[in-house]
Amino acid sequence: MKRVLSGIQPSGQLTLGNYIGALRNFGKLQHTHECFFMVVDLHAVTVPQEPAALKEQSEAVAALFIASGIDPAKSNVFMQSHVTAHAELGWLLTTLTYMGELERMTQFKDKSSGKESVGAGLFTYPSLMAADILLYNADLVPVGDDQKQHLELTRDLAHRFNTRYGQTFTIPEPYIPQVGARIMSLDDASKKMSKSNPNAGSYIAMLDEPDVIRKKISRAVTDSGREVKFDPQGKPEVSNLISIYAQCADMTVQEVEAMYEGQGYGPFKKDLAERVVAVLEPIQQRYRDIRGSGELHSFLRQGAERAAAAAQPVLRQVKEKMGFLVF
Ligand code: AMP
Ligand code: TRP
Repeated sequence: MKRVLSGIQPSGQLTLGNYIGALRNFGKLQHTHECFFMVVDLHAVTVPQEPAALKEQSEAVAALFIASGIDPAKSNVFMQSHVTAHAELGWLLTTLTYMGELERMTQFKDKSSGKESVGAGLFTYPSLMAADILLYNADLVPVGDDQKQHLELTRDLAHRFNTRYGQTFTIPEPYIPQVGARIMSLDDASKKMSKSNPNAGSYIAMLDEPDVIRKKISRAVTDSGREVKFDPQGKPEVSNLISIYAQCADMTVQEVEAMYEGQGYGPFKKDLAERVVAVLEPIQQRYRDIRGSGELHSFLRQGAERAAAAAQPVLRQVKEKMGFLVF
């Protein structure tokens, strides 16, 4: 069975963008693949985190994984920091990564631009992400569009290691959805929908109340036209809403266009809000059940044990190949 691996940072509320771009596919892949899904807390601390908030968000993200359909009995769900091999292999791969490669990463440029002090961890972040993936010899990595460049670097590092020390790592493939890989902000279609946007009206959080979702969608920016037409260049705002609709309703973009032909934005937005609520409400219910049940920690403990058992032999092999004394 092929292996799938992905991670999400516990650095704020998860958004509908995280769900459509990543989480939704996690649940689908577990039926046909051996899956590793982690909450990447070591990545989250590459920017300052308030300790109590980090703890709360970590539990929330883990619970949302399960609420979104990941079965902890079938898939390995765990906290990155619970498997120490990530930090170890991350360091080893950092020594193999070139400064120039890290300097080219757009996520680093975005997150560091305009900041007075930038942590070194934010710079070496992609080497740790490569370690996350290569540690399990993952074949497939489901992510949104913004992670493509990190995946390319991971492939380069795997190739570099294999060339230098002999065949060790599987070269992973990205798995990026055709529609919905890049859900944009509701207030500005040139920016991706992100939990770190200070304007909460710009994103739909997975845990937003139905009425909040309705309000946010009714206020979403459109254009002065009235045609529900998918045209990302000419009508970026409406096209983004059509993508969200198509994903939430399991329809194609063309089907959505046809359904609202000649109807204007009003009815379209109203229905869109109900489609989003219909997707998120059951997830929110399961989320509350999981957090209330007290079972989350035992799921995470079990996930970490299984992940560590898979990771240890790979780390050991890497160390042996690099010339470390391994007994
Ligand atoms: P992050 O929240 O940065 O840890 O991202 C977790 C996953 O969600 C990654 O696979 C991202 O590519 C994906 N993701 C985040 N924001 C969006 C978005 N606006 N549209 C689509 N996918 C996204
Ligand atoms: N960098 C990813 C993000 O910001 C999160 C991540 C960390 C990840 N390690 C990973 C994603 C391994 C896929 C595989 O979204």
